[in-house]
Amino acid sequence: MLPGDFVRTTFYLYAISKPRKWIRTATSGFYRMDHIYDVIYEASKKYRGNFSILEFGTNEGYSFTKILYATKYAKMADRITVHAFDSFEGMPAAVERSDTNIITNSVEWIEGQFHGNYEELAEYCGKKYRNYEIHKGFFEDTITEKFLGRMTESPPILIWIDCDYYSSAKTVLERLIPHIPSGCVIYFDEYEWNYGSRFTGEARLVHEVNMGLFERNIELVLDTKLSWDSKRVYRFMRFEGGPYYEIAAPAIPDPSLHRTNDSPLP
Ligand SMILES: C[S@@+](CC[C@H](N)C(=O)[O-])C[C@H]1O[C@@H](n2cnc3c(N)ncnc32)[C@H](O)[C@@H]1O
Repeated sequence: MLPGDFVRTTFYLYAISKPRKWIRTATSGFYRMDHIYDVIYEASKKYRGNFSILEFGTNEGYSFTKILYATKYAKMADRITVHAFDSFEGMPAAVERSDTNIITNSVEWIEGQFHGNYEELAEYCGKKYRNYEIHKGFFEDTITEKFLGRMTESPPILIWIDCDYYSSAKTVLERLIPHIPSGCVIYFDEYEWNYGSRFTGEARLVHEVNMGLFERNIELVLDTKLSWDSKRVYRFMRFEGGPYYEIAAPAIPDPSLHRTNDSPLP
């Protein structure tokens, strides 16, 4: 009924298309702070002992301090230590083709981009929190055997990978994998880079793990509840062999579903 294609198109774009997209994002769009709370509450209910949360790529600490606050809010600060790993020198140089934007055929991040300020972050955290450690340096130097040995006492419940490059994230996984318990959540902040192509970035790592290129009996399973409409949140699964979380109270499942009525309602 509207006059002319221009008015019809404008009506469609602003009265139909945009609201449809907005509603979709508002109701089912991924927001990267949600799963922090889900994971912490899950650990507090299901498992015994102490835990760690590891962030690789911290920059100014935007997500790091939000994670720290979540441990405090959930009253888990005495059981969870949050570890930040970053050189604070910004992005290193791209190492290989898998670190490049394959749409524009160019380098996405320039060397030194996301330069952080270690002293400022340390001072800020020191005033507000106690359950954290900041590991300054390149991952190859800071993810040491000594540090990894500590994962036995406080296994990771959330590994937050936000170092953008395939090469950086690969160093992280290569060292961590033997110490990750089955069921641990791994979050890839930049999974959708290059539209999630299996040739580049963090998506390449997910592909390689699931092809068995790291270890034969491990996989990364997309957690669809935690990921919402993204492909960013995975469960690390190991077919056999530890480490394992210590279950808080053994669940005694009632296998039978008791009959109620014959309608689709419960
Ligand atoms: C996108 S920023 C992190 C953003 C941060 N998580 C936030 O929420 O604001 C990426 C960071 O990864 C760090 N990084 C990348 N590769 C690294 C490596 N091999 N070793 C140490 N730090 C690295 C960079 O210094 C940079 O601060």
